[in-house]
Amino acid sequence: MNILILGSGGREHTFAWKIAQSPKCKQLFVAPGNSGTAQVATNVNIGVTDFEAIKKLVLTNSIEMVVVGPEDPLVLGIHDYFLNDKEIKHISVIGPEKAAAELEGSKEFAKEFLYRHNIPTAAYESFTKETVENGYAFLETLKPPYVLKADGLAAGKGVVILNDLIEAKEELKSMLVDAKFGDASTKVVIEEFLDGIELSCFVLTDGKHYKILPTAKDYKRIGEGDTGLNTGGMGAVSPVPFATDEFLNKIEERIVKPTIKGLQKDNLPYVGFVFIGLIKVGDDPKVIEYNVRMGDPETEVVLPRLKNDFVEILQTMANGTLDKINIEIDERAATTIMLVSGGYPEAYEKGKEITGIKTIENSIPFHAGAQIVDRKIVTSGGRVMAITSYGDTYQEAIKKSYQSIKKLHFDKMYYRKDIGFDL
Ligand code: AMP
Ligand code: GLY
Repeated sequence: MNILILGSGGREHTFAWKIAQSPKCKQLFVAPGNSGTAQVATNVNIGVTDFEAIKKLVLTNSIEMVVVGPEDPLVLGIHDYFLNDKEIKHISVIGPEKAAAELEGSKEFAKEFLYRHNIPTAAYESFTKETVENGYAFLETLKPPYVLKADGLAAGKGVVILNDLIEAKEELKSMLVDAKFGDASTKVVIEEFLDGIELSCFVLTDGKHYKILPTAKDYKRIGEGDTGLNTGGMGAVSPVPFATDEFLNKIEERIVKPTIKGLQKDNLPYVGFVFIGLIKVGDDPKVIEYNVRMGDPETEVVLPRLKNDFVEILQTMANGTLDKINIEIDERAATTIMLVSGGYPEAYEKGKEITGIKTIENSIPFHAGAQIVDRKIVTSGGRVMAITSYGDTYQEAIKKSYQSIKKLHFDKMYYRKDIGFDL
């Protein structure tokens, strides 16, 4: 079948790399794609939220399946757009419908879902401009640090954690009254702070059945020792060494099962990936957030460990027969190190030539913010490339990635040298 992937990051290059290996895939398109997807698929310069252009592309190229990478098109209802159009309603869309995508689109919606289905998470209350005074009062009842979350999508910047009560009140005012994050902070969720180590759990679902993919841990801060500003992710490790069988069992029983049951009970149609952000508090998992897509760079370590034909899995998700498939996982660990443009996540320059990619032998370079310009591969974003390696242990895999990185160069290249330091 002909398949279209939406997106342009390392996650989408990894999807393309894996899908292109399937004999079931005839022609593969990526919109808009990057220099990595161009190696295994046809890039089409269409934005991920330009639904009309996507429809035209799908019809012109007899595409039968659309795999949605990022959250924006899902929250805007791309799946519903397909279902509501006679010409394209038969096409499989991998990604939840709009109502279910609210699990990522609205923090308050997600918290209400978690509470309704008794899934362990931090205590919270939510506030609007009209109730900002109640918000101050609620902050006074909490112990620091204070966790404030813009309700809507804010490009990963909407969560602010502060130690000082006065600063927390000011931040709340700035979000609600001064619209710091625009419409995204019309509502703000204030949460109890959870102290523990984070990990991510990825679940495939056809809406009824589920399969759990390997766990992964990403490193979100720009600086070594988990310091400095938040980023999209600077590296990842899979499996997560501290996720023992006993702990994984708790995740499945207390979180995954009630989540999938909850989707059904609440009539939230879901064919796609559920990315559950977790924190281990003592010996117990609690949910920090839901995302309705795969993680980036977690995908760069999770998919390389999947032995199955990925297209076959996606087909069973679309058909509602996910229970019929057996997920096979590579025993080896996989790690990835993200190379970023100097200055990221703040201002950075683009258009820097990336050299040495072809000399890499022991790792897989997944392209992210990289494009082909004048037949050269140049940087086009903050996160540029994710260097993934396998190893018998995660330490060995990390070592391989760092060795491969030595062969790569672009002006002002930066990466964290301590991925895995806390394991
Ligand atoms: P989120 O966008 O909800 O994943 O939040 C971004 C980051 O903020 C998470 O990855 C955590 O590191 C941190 N965070 C969010 N909620 C909490 C919480 N209740 N307690 C502690 N840390 C949190
Ligand atoms: N790496 C975190 C995310 O994809 O949201």
